[in-house]
Amino acid sequence: MNLDQLVETAKAMVAPGKGILAADESTATIRSRFDAIGVESTPDTRRDYRELLFRSEKAMQDHISGVILYDETIRQFARDGSRLVEIIKSHGSIPGIKVDMGPREMPFFPGERVTDGLDNLRDRLRDYYVHGARFAKWRAVIDIDARRPSAGSVKANAHALARYAAMCQEENIVPIVEPEVLMDLDHDINRCFEVTEYVLKMTFQALYEMRVQLEGIVLKPNMVIAGRKCKTQASVDEVAEKTVQCLKNTVPSTVTGIAFLSGGQSDVAATAHLNAMNAMHALPWNLTFSYGRALQAAPQKAWAGKDENIPAAQAAFYKRAHMNGLASLGQWKEELEA
Ligand code: 13P
Repeated sequence: MNLDQLVETAKAMVAPGKGILAADESTATIRSRFDAIGVESTPDTRRDYRELLFRSEKAMQDHISGVILYDETIRQFARDGSRLVEIIKSHGSIPGIKVDMGPREMPFFPGERVTDGLDNLRDRLRDYYVHGARFAKWRAVIDIDARRPSAGSVKANAHALARYAAMCQEENIVPIVEPEVLMDLDHDINRCFEVTEYVLKMTFQALYEMRVQLEGIVLKPNMVIAGRKCKTQASVDEVAEKTVQCLKNTVPSTVTGIAFLSGGQSDVAATAHLNAMNAMHALPWNLTFSYGRALQAAPQKAWAGKDENIPAAQAAFYKRAHMNGLASLGQWKEELEA
């Protein structure tokens, strides 16, 4: 392990004004996104769509520090025959790779899941390094309601995240550690706080036990927010206050950076929440974005599978990347969305 190299990469991933594009949707997930815009999902259409994002020069150069890729994409070639990974690197952006194999139902824990993918992970990391990946992502999914999560499922997920993170560091790949408390149910913001705090405490305990170097990770948490189906939605300031409080309670200051997932928030809400946190607080870690849906919903809609829409799609992508870049500095304003 080369800790200096890991820290350098982690710092670059959360550099001020920049954040991460999560473009690692599984084949099933990207199919449902394409269904929504009337585009057939094939290796070529997936390539064409992702290529238009990676070729958005201004968005990539100014605001996208790194891109999380799916296995298919890290091996794929652009229409002109160049590797997609090389296009990303040409903008000074860092290629990363999703390495988990998805959440699976846990035996004896109805309605709870643990993420698979530790088997052969070392070999896969070595292969991805050769393909250009310098960071990786593993997502643990925490189901939440009055009864869930159980201690057993939180421990199992924290353990898997820590085993993954240690293997990544051994291979000089920065692990994005993503314990995601879901946002789409009906719990209120206080229940989200309680569960997120517990999950983060258990995750950092497991990282400690596995001797993971915290300077060489990027944490990717959910924000503390009411579930989408909850009748009482919190204000932007309350989300920011509670999220920062929860992170201060649980995340050691040696962690280099925190990059949030958007989790189904509207794209402007995801920007407003990030901005409020950075505008209101001096924090020990850089706080930025690692958004999938909140960066891609607008360009997907603008593209709709047509070559003639590529400039409009790239403009829509630049707008979200720019707005979130400003939010990472606490400099976004609602008027800029007009
Ligand atoms: P969303 O921002 O759409 O939640 O995706 C981020 C991600 O990578 C989830 O694992």
